[in-house]
Amino acid sequence: MKTWILVFLAALAVGTSAQCPCETMKWATCDGNPCSCFLMVGDNVKQNLNCSTLIPKCHLMKAEMYRAKKGLDTRTGGKPVESAFVDNDGIYDPDCENNGKFKAKQCNNTEECWCVNSAGVRRTDKGDRDLKCEKLVETYWLRLQLTHKKLSAPVDASKLKTAIAEAIHKRYDNFNKALVKEVEYDPEARLIVVDVKKDIGDHMNELTHMAYYMEKDVKVLPLFKNQDKFAPTVGGQTLEMENILVYYVDEEAPTFTMKNLSGGIIAVIVVVVLAVVAGVLVLFFARRRQNQYNKAQQREMDNM
Ligand SMILES: *[C@@H]1O[C@H](CO)[C@@H](O)[C@H](O)[C@H]1NC(C)=O
Ligand SMILES: *[C@@H]1O[C@H](CO)[C@@H](O)[C@H](O)[C@H]1NC(C)=O
Repeated sequence: MKTWILVFLAALAVGTSAQCPCETMKWATCDGNPCSCFLMVGDNVKQNLNCSTLIPKCHLMKAEMYRAKKGLDTRTGGKPVESAFVDNDGIYDPDCENNGKFKAKQCNNTEECWCVNSAGVRRTDKGDRDLKCEKLVETYWLRLQLTHKKLSAPVDASKLKTAIAEAIHKRYDNFNKALVKEVEYDPEARLIVVDVKKDIGDHMNELTHMAYYMEKDVKVLPLFKNQDKFAPTVGGQTLEMENILVYYVDEEAPTFTMKNLSGGIIAVIVVVVLAVVAGVLVLFFARRRQNQYNKAQQREMDNM
């Protein structure tokens, strides 16, 4: 009788502890019955998590900044349209809404602020604390440029789109396959271009959490408790990824100044500016020499 009770209690313990880990966030601390999980995002600041879905990017970035500060482990084909942009700034300590969305204005705890899109990526020039960000502009289109590792046999490109959509759906909280609109493949470059797109005005489907989890999967280590990598199977072959670049397309074009100037044009502008400065200097010294010459002449005349 006693042993039965012990076995029953043991089974109960296994049952609850198996339920408690947070599958979608390896840094989560979980406790209690019913199980609840949180993430440290500041000194004595806990962010409660819903581990049955992907954790919002804003909360993840906050946790990463906090972990970096604490010295904890944080390892975790071209523009689609002219207005697309990449995240050149990297990580900052974001201000989040309670529901995990980014606040439209971000300052990274400094006096310098900027406006972000729904993916938390800067879309304006930087300004001071008085900068106005009217609203959070939605990112409705993401282009994921993935490079896969070398394979022994060629990839069956005709099966690629279905396979990628399926892998994304399975791995990232049942992500809506219908939003994986287009997949292009360049075998030479081992490049897979995935366009994930929703309708303009659709603020229900969330694209950016999935993309952030995928970026971490490819660039560092999975954010999931399970450390298996993102590796779609295409026609019996497993594609391991080695690189990812994400382009963001917002419902409204970003307002960076000089955003349309390529490096080449900027270089030309610098050269022109330098030439003008050099010209001014030459004129200045020429004038001075002229003045000295005039003065010398004056003196000679006085002597005579
Ligand atoms: C957690 O997320 C799931 C899936 O999106 C949702 O159905 C559920 O209501 C959420 N739970 C809480 C407490 O918000
Ligand atoms: C935010 O601030 C941290 C230092 O507190 C810095 O390392 C990081 O580069 C900053 N990020 C941006 C985007 O300004």
